[in-house]
Amino acid sequence: MQHRLTIDVFCHAEQTSASAKALAEQRAFARCKIAVRDGGLARAVTHYADHPSPHLIIVEDDGDTATLQSRLDALAQVVEPGRKLIVVGAVNDISVYRRIVSLGVTDYLVSPLSLEGMMDAIERAAHDPKGPERCRLVAVTGARGGVGASTIAHNMAWASARRLNLKTILADMDLTFGTAGLAFNQDPRTAFGEAFNDPERIDITLLERYMTGEDDNLQILSTPGILRHYEGIDEEAVEKTIDLCRQMAKLVIVDVPHVWTDWSEALLMSADETVLVLAPDIANIRDSRNLLDFLNGKRGDSKQVKVVINKSDVAKRTRLLPKDISNTLGIQPVAAIPFDPTTFIEAANDGKMIGDRFKSHKLIGVFTDLVMRTGVRGSVKGAAKPAKKLAFPSLFRKPQPKVA
Ligand SMILES: Nc1ncnc2c1ncn2[C@@H]1O[C@H](COP(=O)(O)OP(=O)(O)OP(=O)(O)O)[C@@H](O)[C@H]1O
Ligand SMILES: [Mg+2]
Repeated sequence: MQHRLTIDVFCHAEQTSASAKALAEQRAFARCKIAVRDGGLARAVTHYADHPSPHLIIVEDDGDTATLQSRLDALAQVVEPGRKLIVVGAVNDISVYRRIVSLGVTDYLVSPLSLEGMMDAIERAAHDPKGPERCRLVAVTGARGGVGASTIAHNMAWASARRLNLKTILADMDLTFGTAGLAFNQDPRTAFGEAFNDPERIDITLLERYMTGEDDNLQILSTPGILRHYEGIDEEAVEKTIDLCRQMAKLVIVDVPHVWTDWSEALLMSADETVLVLAPDIANIRDSRNLLDFLNGKRGDSKQVKVVINKSDVAKRTRLLPKDISNTLGIQPVAAIPFDPTTFIEAANDGKMIGDRFKSHKLIGVFTDLVMRTGVRGSVKGAAKPAKKLAFPSLFRKPQPKVA
């Protein structure tokens, strides 16, 4: 998986500094912004007095561990709330580790830090289940055109906003023919694709101008349906746009049309979850095989593409049943949605999602389940609310507990 973090490292030991410098060359960290400075914890304290804080700070300290807490307190005064901190210290002692971590520090490691040690610590910090919830990015695409990928992306966005009560953005990257606006009976004032004409200008204010939606919980970036060429869409502009969307929501669902370009490949590779929709025919199976081989190879074992078979029962007579597809592709689909033209077309023609058109339909549960499988933490409407969780015990957010 590729991380997109800003990371500052303040080193003392030469080896720690060399590890930090080598970090940017590792594929998983190629999209991180990494700054490496000497001077350790003391330099970090003066640095953040007049610089913004990154997502993650790694500080090496060569002082006495008995007085480390007061130096960390000084750092806490100048760092913005909610940032993660890894401390690298000279003492290899479990009691020191426990004491430092009890202060809200994400991890304590022993100096000097190897490249592998640094990469492992950042991986752990990035996946800290107690950490502040990051917006999830889900990319939905079809193995071929017309398989129902957009319909599934739309209904997932609905389930996320309405059933799981999550602030959701649906970004329709089918810039010319996209139907997200139509499907939700929304009329985007300006086509989302126009944003990519001038990538320098893309910011939150601009994107908000392109968004439409019934309320804050579900915002849509789409087209009103204008025949326009959007050629030469810049991969970095797409990445920047999606990153900005992620700052505004808990879940961003990107409808990636059936095209193979730098930006579509990058989205399918880098999303937290990629959902591949296929229909039961030979061409879909061939293209799914190619896409799964390529994407799963790059995304790694923990981030395998999730497969949905749509219109799953249309090929009964030719014996292409979901289990035949699973066997051929060597995957277990996360959902098999039957061919149901009445339901889908009625809802589409009313400009409604299935859950709005039919108050209780079993597909509502299927779409909600699909969203929950992407790792978001929502609360299903109607279900008992979970007990309120304690906030992340960040060193930079809460008063420090006194440690003996
Ligand atoms: N399970 C289903 N049963 C019946 N009709 C469906 C089903 N899923 C989708 N459809 C219909 O199939 C048509 C194509 O769906 P959709 O536009 O979502 O496909 P797509 O994969 O996004 O196509 P494109 O390649 O054009 O982007 C729509 O009319 C939709 O209502
Ligand atoms: Mg589509």
